[in-house]
Amino acid sequence: MSERIFIAVAWPYADGPLHLGHIAGAYLPADIFARYHRLRGDEVLMVSGSDQHGTPITIKAEQEGKKPGEIAAQYHQQFLDSWQRLGISFDLFTTTSTANHAEVSQDMFLTLLNKGYIYKATVSQPYCPHCLRFLPDRYIEGTCPYCGSPGARGDQCDDCGKPMNPAELLDPHCRLCAATPQFKDSEHFFLKLTAFRDRLLAWVKQQSHWRQNALNFTMRYLEEGLRDRAITRDIDWGIPVPVDGFDSKRIYVWFEAVIGYLSAAKEWAKSSGDEERWRSFWQDKDVKGYYFIGKDNIAFHTIIWPAMLMGYGGLALPYDVPANEFLTIEGKKLSTSRNWAVWLPDYLSRYEPDPLRYLLSINMPETGDTDFSWREFFRRNNDELVATYGNLAHRVLTFVYRRFNGCVPQPGEFDSHSQALIAQAEDTLESMDRLLYRCHFREAIRSAMFLAQETNRYLDKKSPWKAIEQDRQASATALYVAISVLSCLKTALYPFLPFSSQKLHQLLGFDGNVEDDGWQLHFPPPGQNLPSPTPLFSKLDEELVEEETGRLGQVRY
Ligand code: MF3
Ligand code: ZN
Repeated sequence: MSERIFIAVAWPYADGPLHLGHIAGAYLPADIFARYHRLRGDEVLMVSGSDQHGTPITIKAEQEGKKPGEIAAQYHQQFLDSWQRLGISFDLFTTTSTANHAEVSQDMFLTLLNKGYIYKATVSQPYCPHCLRFLPDRYIEGTCPYCGSPGARGDQCDDCGKPMNPAELLDPHCRLCAATPQFKDSEHFFLKLTAFRDRLLAWVKQQSHWRQNALNFTMRYLEEGLRDRAITRDIDWGIPVPVDGFDSKRIYVWFEAVIGYLSAAKEWAKSSGDEERWRSFWQDKDVKGYYFIGKDNIAFHTIIWPAMLMGYGGLALPYDVPANEFLTIEGKKLSTSRNWAVWLPDYLSRYEPDPLRYLLSINMPETGDTDFSWREFFRRNNDELVATYGNLAHRVLTFVYRRFNGCVPQPGEFDSHSQALIAQAEDTLESMDRLLYRCHFREAIRSAMFLAQETNRYLDKKSPWKAIEQDRQASATALYVAISVLSCLKTALYPFLPFSSQKLHQLLGFDGNVEDDGWQLHFPPPGQNLPSPTPLFSKLDEELVEEETGRLGQVRY
């Protein structure tokens, strides 16, 4: 019954640090999903990498007086460090700068060209008469022709999410000098998206398991009419166009970035020692590919990448595209330019990873935007992680350690209350299994926390700390039940809170990794030795709320 799950996660531009919007939008849900499937015993391949080409990187490099490659390499290192510290468990996190990626991208390009899905055309391109250069993508800004937003760029409008060609922009101007661009002829390659309309429409209609946001957006887009899209740019930073006469141009960053999902699987296979192994995640008819992305990237994953895959042939289309909505910060739209953002490296330099994973999971923007606030972070850490879950573990384990010789107690017969709690723990695992399988992360973690609350109520009722004086057996039984539910919680919460779950696993006297025990209630054997307990979580000081909110919107170093 084990399944093969391919987990593709949006490739972050290596032009700045990661922030909580990235984490809540794509990386955390992908990691929860990967850990959950690994626990179930499924075969998982989770890949992504730094998106190192295109104008986001060259703009940043110009701002800092560095080479694009230096900027990209610097942030790539920082990403790797952040994944490790936040526990985002990629099987491979590579970059778009590898020779392998260029090769796979050029092969895709040439195959689509040979099959007639890519064609050459002369287009008039924005050219800045003052800067004496073509203005690709982000170097040209203007008003969105679809929604009227004034901040649209040459590649897409962030307000309505529509991708576009620069010539569609109203009131265009040069980002570097604000001059009005002229239009000059330039030869480019186009992806013939229009050729895929019917096939895409038929395919999307079968995806009733997708979330509403992806489904509605994609249907509307297909019905309003597709346009062919330019997939080369007048720029020198990127993957060379594998056709003579195009030396001064590069493949469009979005066209090659999505190919990263395939090239990363090939790179992973090569380094695993079995070069053909990628095929089991791309060509097996039973494989399911999940693409974790923010809602601003929907079109690229439900239309453009599927069209490229259809054109290429023989590769699996996405099974699901669980796109998240946005995370606001203290009630306002996240803005990196105004520094209205919480940067991941900053967070990780001051706090533990699990409290953040907890808050972003229980408040995940799955069906609508949600808000991050430091007050809520503080409150949920102290009231829920520390007081509800951590304290449950700590009071049980310290008492058992002291009064039962540091061993899991031998229980007597379970009364109906004890039986009911164990049954509830088993039901919780079962219902979380259904929820996680369908990417309903928020609801899943809420039911685990509900089980922790119920266990606290059970202990308040049984009060084994008092019962031990008259009835040692009754106390032992209640503690054994509580220890068993803790063992259930360390499994149920592992996808969300891997660090504290692993710690609890050891505090319960188990060896190895939580992941090896499977998605099941693993009863600790009576007599199992327990180590000296330490708390799972630490209380935070309320002062952090003011301190952290004060950093928002401040000019960065
Ligand atoms: N770099 C893009 C962004 O940050 C996302 C690329 S996702 C991929 O918005 F599909 F191209 F991989
Ligand atoms: Zn200019």
